[in-house]
Amino acid sequence: MEQTYIMIKPDGVQRGLIGEIVSRIEKRGLKVAAMRLGVMSAESAKEHYREHAERPFFASLIEYVTSGPSVSMVVEGKNAIAIMRAVNGATNPVNAAPGTIRGDFAIETGRNVVHASDSPESAKREISIHFKGSEIVSYSKIDEVCLY
Ligand code: TYD
Ligand code: MG
Repeated sequence: MEQTYIMIKPDGVQRGLIGEIVSRIEKRGLKVAAMRLGVMSAESAKEHYREHAERPFFASLIEYVTSGPSVSMVVEGKNAIAIMRAVNGATNPVNAAPGTIRGDFAIETGRNVVHASDSPESAKREISIHFKGSEIVSYSKIDEVCLY
């Protein structure tokens, strides 16, 4: 079972999209294994986006993701990493297909509502930045349990 790190960025929270986004994740068949709302520290944000440290947009990206509360999640399921990249859509919402979160709710790269880890290595690294092992819960959903 794969795990991926998902963030509903501050614009998503500001616009009241938490429920919509969590709903899409759940309806797709993936499971929320950890979830927290809070303002990300600049330290965590810089570590999270370390690969972009030399890019011209780095400072504004850090400012954006720390500008207000965001929702951090660990999402679990078969092929969760690739599925969540597809659910989110292309980085630049101009290229994001309708039906994706970015394709339905965003118009610019700098306010693209959601984050999802891009590989198993990134997922492992990002989950460890944002969650302690004890905050990630293992459980079966009702449709995974044989009741009779
Ligand atoms: P990136 O890792 O390329 O995209 P993704 O979020 O799809 O993994 O970039 C990280 C974030 O940085 C992206 O979601 C928004 C921001 N960003 C910009 O503001 N300008 C840019 O030109 C790029 C490439 C990204
Ligand atoms: Mg990325």
